[in-house]
Amino acid sequence: MTSIAVVTGGAGSMGSACATALASDVDVVLLSDIDAQRLEVVGKEVQQTTTANIVTTVGDLGDPHFALDLATRSAELGELRALVHTAGLSPAMAGWHEILRVDLVASARLLEAFLPLVVKGSVAVCVASVSGHMGEFDPAMDAVLDEPLAADLEARFVSAAGDEPDAGNTYRLAKRGVIRMCRRAAIEWGTQGGRVISLSPGLIDTEMGRLELQHQPIKQWLAEITPVSGERSEPDTVLPGRTHHISDTVAFLCSKHAEFISGCDILVDGGLLAALEHSS
Ligand SMILES: NC(=O)c1ccc[n+]([C@@H]2O[C@H](COP(=O)([O-])OP(=O)(O)OC[C@H]3O[C@@H](n4cnc5c(N)ncnc54)[C@H](O)[C@@H]3O)[C@@H](O)[C@H]2O)c1
Repeated sequence: MTSIAVVTGGAGSMGSACATALASDVDVVLLSDIDAQRLEVVGKEVQQTTTANIVTTVGDLGDPHFALDLATRSAELGELRALVHTAGLSPAMAGWHEILRVDLVASARLLEAFLPLVVKGSVAVCVASVSGHMGEFDPAMDAVLDEPLAADLEARFVSAAGDEPDAGNTYRLAKRGVIRMCRRAAIEWGTQGGRVISLSPGLIDTEMGRLELQHQPIKQWLAEITPVSGERSEPDTVLPGRTHHISDTVAFLCSKHAEFISGCDILVDGGLLAALEHSS
């Protein structure tokens, strides 16, 4: 049976790195992104590194039907080995409605749409964020985040926020919602022999990472206190993480070596959260 890995945000920094890392383990990689031009370029670049067949499909995960379209395409191409969901919007890129729709709701739709495709050994890795672990969390908001497909999600979200939400807090909460969602989905996927894990990156040197660094001065300090700082000395960036830190972890999580890991969040933050907890 043809094995397939699906990567959302496939034209992005982490997505393209994950596609390259996974290509040696499957027959087909299905790369998807909203950015048609970049997707075409990345698809060709990844194809040059592998004998696996690289297939691309353009679509907007904010569109309620696209997750199902992607799952249908995946089923046509082969048996699901891995679903790696990296597509996302950060606070400097969009307003709160769109962040909630793409970062939270689309993740739920994807896990739901791919559930019928799960066979023994299928794995989903959803990229969340270290920000989903930061700050205070209200149980009333958690209850809202735990029903991401509710028709009145936005109204409930505004009501639990108690004020007009802002993009930064919505991003943090959406990523918390993804972490919680993956714990629940692991139970459903597990009944069919699959696993679900969320992965929370810290400050990673990508286009998105650099954009947020420009818009949020606090990121400079967060970069400085991140304990793992080996490559930070590169002259043009202070961001301590690299895309290979994410793609190496994703490759491990999708491999047989991780066959007993499910229903949890893996922090790939260079120790940032630990440093924050102990900073005065
Ligand atoms: N870079 C960081 O420091 C950092 C830290 C924590 C979490 N993250 C998360 O990691 C993931 C990947 O981030 P990245 O740094 O590689 O960013 P990136 O911008 O390079 O990649 C994100 C990709 O998602 C795609 N995308 C955006 N909206 C979409 C939509 N509606 N439908 C389909 N595709 C869409 C973009 O076109 C882009 O190619 C994101 O979920 C982000 O929130 C990043």
